[in-house]
Amino acid sequence: MKPLLAFSIPVLFSSLVWSGYLEYDQDVLIPQDWTRVGRVDPTEQLELTFALKQQNVHLLEEKLRLVSDPDSAQYGKHLSLEEVAALVRPSELTQKVVRHWLHSHGITNCLTVRTWDFLQCTMTAEAAETLLPGSRFHRYIRDGHSIVRSSAPYSVHDDVHQHLDFVGGLHRLPPKGQDLGQKPHKEGLHLGVTPAILRTRYNLTAADVGSNQNNSQAVAQFLEQYYHPADLAEFMNMFGGTFQHMSQVDRVVGTQGAGKAGLEASLDVEYIMSTGANISTWVFTNPGRHESQEPFLQWMVLLSNMSDLPWVHTISYGDDEDSLSTAYMMRINTEFMKAGVRGISLLFASGDSGAGCRHMGKEQNSFRPSFPASSPYVTTVGGTSFKNPFKVTYEVTDYISGGGFSNVFDMPDYQASAVKGYLKTVEATLPPKSYFNTSGRAYPDMAALSDNYWVVTNRVPIPWVSGTSASTPVVGGMLSLINGQRLLKGLSSLGFLNPRLYKLKGQALFDVTEGCHLSCLDEQVQGKGFCAAPSWDPVTGWGTPNYPALLAALLT
Ligand SMILES: *[C@@H]1O[C@H](CO)[C@@H](O)[C@H](O)[C@H]1NC(C)=O
Ligand SMILES: *[C@@H]1O[C@H](CO)[C@@H](O)[C@H](O)[C@H]1NC(C)=O
Ligand SMILES: *[C@@H]1O[C@H](CO)[C@@H](O)[C@H](O)[C@H]1NC(C)=O
Ligand SMILES: *[C@@H]1O[C@H](CO)[C@@H](O)[C@H](O)[C@H]1NC(C)=O
Ligand SMILES: *[C@@H]1O[C@H](CO)[C@@H](O)[C@H](O)[C@H]1NC(C)=O
Repeated sequence: MKPLLAFSIPVLFSSLVWSGYLEYDQDVLIPQDWTRVGRVDPTEQLELTFALKQQNVHLLEEKLRLVSDPDSAQYGKHLSLEEVAALVRPSELTQKVVRHWLHSHGITNCLTVRTWDFLQCTMTAEAAETLLPGSRFHRYIRDGHSIVRSSAPYSVHDDVHQHLDFVGGLHRLPPKGQDLGQKPHKEGLHLGVTPAILRTRYNLTAADVGSNQNNSQAVAQFLEQYYHPADLAEFMNMFGGTFQHMSQVDRVVGTQGAGKAGLEASLDVEYIMSTGANISTWVFTNPGRHESQEPFLQWMVLLSNMSDLPWVHTISYGDDEDSLSTAYMMRINTEFMKAGVRGISLLFASGDSGAGCRHMGKEQNSFRPSFPASSPYVTTVGGTSFKNPFKVTYEVTDYISGGGFSNVFDMPDYQASAVKGYLKTVEATLPPKSYFNTSGRAYPDMAALSDNYWVVTNRVPIPWVSGTSASTPVVGGMLSLINGQRLLKGLSSLGFLNPRLYKLKGQALFDVTEGCHLSCLDEQVQGKGFCAAPSWDPVTGWGTPNYPALLAALLT
């Protein structure tokens, strides 16, 4: 971009004349737990990710609907990565304009992906600030972890505005993860959830393990924490006695740090390999080499660059919808569609704050949906507890289980009648209308136990670990087992499950009908969000898996 006017005007003003914001509604405040260290040196190298405008997004959406609807003749006819690329690849014009723009700023060190819709470019901080008027890069630290982000919103030149969805690496901070924690227990020793307890509750027999070499599953983690192979081995040694299983991860994609093992990381791997037993397991871990990278976005970019991927991915990551720009969420949602048409199932934890709470003003609150849990193109998993914590009994709501209604995504057709049914059944006892948006995508879709887990981390068994990041890999492992059986029969993978799941209308799942999850601690709702009810509800979805019944229902 060259100034066209001969006389001098303030730089900020000149930039605003010819440029506009891509993410006008992005929250750019840096949370207080990050400390600003200072401005980034102008010569320092940053790596930014450019999301190029794709073509045929509505055709992609239609294709996903057809390949995921069990009543469609195209059910299971998934696309390869090359076919996805042919569909969504940005137009020649878009590619040319964006590259020209970058070149004209001396930015030539860029990598693309197989779908051509992301560019990852390395440039100096000075070049980045000129390219993206408004941006000002600073370094921030938290717990010894250092990142580079812009303290102010960025804009792009008018010429490229219509060719980009967003630029990654300026604003979004590494997520804190779900508040996975140990709930305090006063009633003495509980039963404690172990692989054997899960397998008993969900009716998995010793024969229900993977037997297909071509099947695989993955957990993706974006926190500064790692699983340790020794913890997994120790866990399987302690708890894996009753079923055939693997004790090693087959592939780690990304860099595992040398730091301490994290509870979250240990939990995900240990439990996906307990229900999805004897199935090859991958771990996607922090790919961040540059302080300006967004780990979650990096993972999405990677999916568009790998043609062979596990069929099931479980992810325990979420942010408040209201902290993210609509442009970003819409584009990430399209990335989920790209995975879905390829036959990949993405499972996200629904979150650990119930309906959540957002303070809108003085004594004015609303619930706070979380993304990607609120995306219509992922399967979102909530959490439950045993009714009697000392026994394998039926399940009730775990009060932390995330759920509610999106304020960004419209309600997809596949769930419309289920949600309508719920709203009607519980009409008299619903929270005030001002707290949630009934036209939005409602979640979760299903659930599993999320309370009282045993986890081995740093070689020590730890009890009472709770969170929907526990229930998500548990469900993921079971879907992997079903995929294995389907592949053996020559059927496709399950892919995007929701259209099929909602058509089961709760068949093959244990309905959860008791308990409410938490929300705003205010006078109006007094900490109560939604409550479970017969059939689907926005606390536990359709309920928890009865494995043999679910296998039978999904094996055609
Ligand atoms: C995508 O993969 C190709 C090799 O298959 C590689 O050359 C390219 O750099 C990768 N892109 C990114 C963004 O890493
Ligand atoms: C599965 O478990 C439930 C409850 O634990 C039980 O009622 C049911 O009979 C079991 N078996 C099958 C095949 O569903
Ligand atoms: C475990 O998986 C392997 C293939 O990965 C298979 O050969 C073996 O039979 C499986 N074990 C059981 C008990 O099914
Ligand atoms: C695994 O995949 C290969 C190549 O796609 C195929 O030839 C083979 O039959 C598959 N094996 C199983 C056990 O499905
Ligand atoms: C409610 O959700 C819809 C999407 O279904 C959205 O368009 C609308 O803006 C939301 N309303 C509020 C108040 O957030």
